[in-house]
Amino acid sequence: MMRVKKAVIPAAGLGTRVLPITKSLPKEMLPIVDKPAIQYIVEEAVSSGIKDILIITGRGKELIENHFDKNPELEIRLNRTNKQDALKEILGISNLSNIYFVRQKEALGLGHAILCARSFVGEEPFAVLYADDIILSEKPACKQLIDVYNEFGLGVLGVNKVSKSSISKYSSLKVDLIRDNIYSCSDMIEKPTESQILSLYSVLGRCVLNSDVFDILERTKPGVGEEIQLTDAMKILARDKGMIAVDFVGKRYDMGSKLGIMQASVEAALSHSEVKEDFKNYLKQLCRKL
Ligand code: UTP
Repeated sequence: MMRVKKAVIPAAGLGTRVLPITKSLPKEMLPIVDKPAIQYIVEEAVSSGIKDILIITGRGKELIENHFDKNPELEIRLNRTNKQDALKEILGISNLSNIYFVRQKEALGLGHAILCARSFVGEEPFAVLYADDIILSEKPACKQLIDVYNEFGLGVLGVNKVSKSSISKYSSLKVDLIRDNIYSCSDMIEKPTESQILSLYSVLGRCVLNSDVFDILERTKPGVGEEIQLTDAMKILARDKGMIAVDFVGKRYDMGSKLGIMQASVEAALSHSEVKEDFKNYLKQLCRKL
C-alpha cells in the first residue's frame, strides 16, 4: 500500500461568514497572536510526515503565497541587526516543506477545490486539511488519520460529535463502531435537516482519500448551496467501498466563524511564551468587570 506523503489544503473559499474582513484579507491569514491561521495547518501536515503540500488558493489570496516564500530584504535586515531568533523563525516558515499553489478559478465548492489537486496528487493517497479548521493536539489530527489509513487502506474521515442543534451546519455520518475511536462509515449527508440526521458524528476538517475520489468528483453535480460538495463524492465512496471514521483527539477552532477566531486567539495567547503572563493578568482583571 502506498504511503501518504502529500497533502491538499483548500483555502479558496470566500469566507462569507466572517465578512467584512474577508473582503480584502483571506481568513486563512487572520492572526492567532503572531501566526496566521494557515501556518498552524501547514505545521500540522509537516509534523504528520507530509513532504509535499498543495494549497488551493483563489483571487485575492496572494498573501498566503507571500507568507510561505522567502523575504530576502527582511532576512538581511534581521541578520544585520543581530535579531537571530526572529531570523530563524522566518527562515523556518519558508523551509517548512515543499509548498505548491494552484488557483481555483471560481469558488464552486470544496469538492471542486479538491478536484483542482488532481494532477498534483496523481495516483497516490493524500491528506486533506481544511484551511479554516485549526486542530491542536499532542498527536497531530492528520497523523491520527494517516495511521488508521495505513491499517485499513480505505478513505479516512476525521470526525467529532457535534450538538443536535448545530449539525445542520455540518455533515452527518452513518457509523458503526469497529474499536476504540474507530468506526466504519457507510453513508453520509451534507447539512442534514432534522429528519435526515444519521448520527451526530460529523466530518470536521480532516480526511485522507484515495485518488479514486477524483473520477467521482468529475461527475458530482452542485449540491447544497449550489456548491460541488466533497461530502457528495465521499458518500459514494462510503456506500460502494466503505470508509473509516476516526473520532480524533484534539481541540478544534473554527476559523470560518467569528466566535472560533476569538476563541483561538484567546487560548493561544494564554499559552504563548512571550505574552501569556501579561495576558492572563489582563484577562483576570477584565473578567472581574463582566
Ligand atoms: P467553507 O464552506 O468552510 O469555507 O469551506 P467558505 O466557503 O470560505 O465559507 P463561508 O460559508 O463563505 O464563510 C471549507 C474549506 O474549503 C475551502 C475553504 O477555503 C475552507 O478551507 N473552499 C471552499 C475552497 O477552497 N473552495 C471553495 O469553493 C469552497
